[in-house]
Amino acid sequence: MKTHATLLLTALAAIALAPVTKADDKVDFEKQIFPIFKAKCFKCHEKEHEDNGKVKKPKGGLRLDSAEMIKKGGKEDKEKCLVAGKAADSTIYTATTLPSTDDKAMPPDGKGDPLTKDEQELLKKWIDGGANFGAWKGVE
Ligand code: HEC
Repeated sequence: MKTHATLLLTALAAIALAPVTKADDKVDFEKQIFPIFKAKCFKCHEKEHEDNGKVKKPKGGLRLDSAEMIKKGGKEDKEKCLVAGKAADSTIYTATTLPSTDDKAMPPDGKGDPLTKDEQELLKKWIDGGANFGAWKGVE
């Protein structure tokens, strides 16, 4: 009986919460953006670490494994990497939309899978929507 009551309450809570989540159609960084970075950028933009006895430094000084570091940006782009509310000004987004032959294209030509159109759109939406990390902080 207890399980039934719990199930019913869960179902009711889900119904009650559904419209709220719908109306607030925001991109969830941890669920939707982080996996993209992890799959397509971490190879070169993670905290300094050892791999097979080799020290790997984040390329361009840019780390994408921490909210603080993403906001800080890389050696050149600095806070232009992520300009909250303005994807068009954020190199973290614009670099992923450049033709692969462009020097600034990310990932660099032939060095990884480019973002799909859907992934680009999601990233744009997240930045234009305020680039909110939610509770996610990432690696220190
Ligand atoms: C194979 C390695 C590699 C991958 C994968 C890669 N990058 Fe890079 N990234 C680099 C290198 C090297 C630089 C620095 C030199 C340059 O700008 O080409 C760089 C620089 C950058 C910069 C400029 C930082 C600065 O301040 O100069 C941004 C922004 C960037 N990457 C974003 C990304 C994103 C987003 C992804 C994933 C979609 C990604 N990169 C994937 C190698 C990589």
